[in-house]
Amino acid sequence: MSSTGFAYPGLFGKQVPPPAPRWAGNAKYNFIGGHNDRSLVPIEGLIAATEAVLRREGADLALYSMAQGPQGFRGLRQFVADKLTGWRGIRATADDVLITSGSGQAIDLINQVLLEPGDTVILEEFTYGGYLTKLRRIGVNIVGAPLDEDGIRVDALAEILADLKRKGTTPKYICTVPTIQNPTGSIMPLAQRHEFLALAAEYGVPIFEDECYADLTWGGMEAPPALYSLDPSRVIHIGSFSKTLAPALRLGYVVADWEFMSRMVAIKTATDSGTGALEQMVVAEYFSKHFEEHVGELSAALKDKLDTMVEAVEREFGTAVEPWVPKGGIFLWMKLPDQVDVRKLVQPALDAGIAFNPGPEWAVDGEAAKSRLRLCFGLTTKQEIRDGVAGFARVCYEQTGIPEQSGNIRHRSGR
Ligand SMILES: Cc1ncc(COP(=O)(O)O)c(C=O)c1O
Repeated sequence: MSSTGFAYPGLFGKQVPPPAPRWAGNAKYNFIGGHNDRSLVPIEGLIAATEAVLRREGADLALYSMAQGPQGFRGLRQFVADKLTGWRGIRATADDVLITSGSGQAIDLINQVLLEPGDTVILEEFTYGGYLTKLRRIGVNIVGAPLDEDGIRVDALAEILADLKRKGTTPKYICTVPTIQNPTGSIMPLAQRHEFLALAAEYGVPIFEDECYADLTWGGMEAPPALYSLDPSRVIHIGSFSKTLAPALRLGYVVADWEFMSRMVAIKTATDSGTGALEQMVVAEYFSKHFEEHVGELSAALKDKLDTMVEAVEREFGTAVEPWVPKGGIFLWMKLPDQVDVRKLVQPALDAGIAFNPGPEWAVDGEAAKSRLRLCFGLTTKQEIRDGVAGFARVCYEQTGIPEQSGNIRHRSGR
């Protein structure tokens, strides 16, 4: 690629991150990120929805935001309100919903409304890497709250809040993914949700609830109602269409008290001229007729792929691995023995065509998560899962001598 030779670097702002590498394509066995299954994008349904909605409302594309205001396409806001009412116990109308360009934009807007450099926030100890990148750029202190198989441990959170209070610090928010946590896949039980909300209320800390994966529970299993539904005055709720439909569409949403949301709308209006209307129209049209059917089919297929991945991981890694089996979603979070530093496996795995997310990038305390990793089973086929996990175990064995007993080792020695 050519370079103009102009001396830009001397002009760059102080906050500009290091240069991005040029994109080198996806690994053959791509277990990173939050991709979806290609075969489950409902192409025919989306074509029919596009035709119907364009014929009916397409002329309004002539106007910024289709003359429906900065909160987004009304049909999509209505769909989100209905879905949240029916599925997550949230009483919302279309006016309570803000559509964003992916839930990533919702996270940025929340951070912009609340955070200054030097502020403190509480995150789950293992968490979405995107939060960490964004927060580190702002320069806030991040405190990790311990997790178990039910999500944030309320007893540990109480100690953290008391300790911060002693130091005169009120965190700006507690960020949680309570329903299909990323990366562990846990669901916080109802009683714990109430205790958690009561604790946050006692310390006057708002909760930032991210329900990116909440509609992808196995077999339509009922998750407890969203935290927002239990205490709308203290919770900012976000969600996404990336996992239930397609991440390339870039659609997410927020539900929050108007006092808060009005500030988000002001910032959004100042920084974009509306989220793309065509994708909002198409998703509204398609999902208002087919949401339940689509999500049912998708989560059944994902569960089948999870089972394949768990089987492969157990076969290839044997007792060397501790998987946290998720209750929905697209990720398997697991731990290898303490002596394995997964960061050292990233490049050898890529050389073998395998990409995985190292635990340190998904943890508040990266060093403490050095033996953990996350595998996404959303994109790969079942055969790719089997082959990719076998290849990964081989790389791991070559680099660390672990796993000692696995399908791989038996193949190699011909037993
Ligand atoms: C917990 C969580 N929140 C937000 C996002 C951002 O998703 P998007 O911007 O595609 O809606 C992700 C993506 O993986 C995520 O895992």
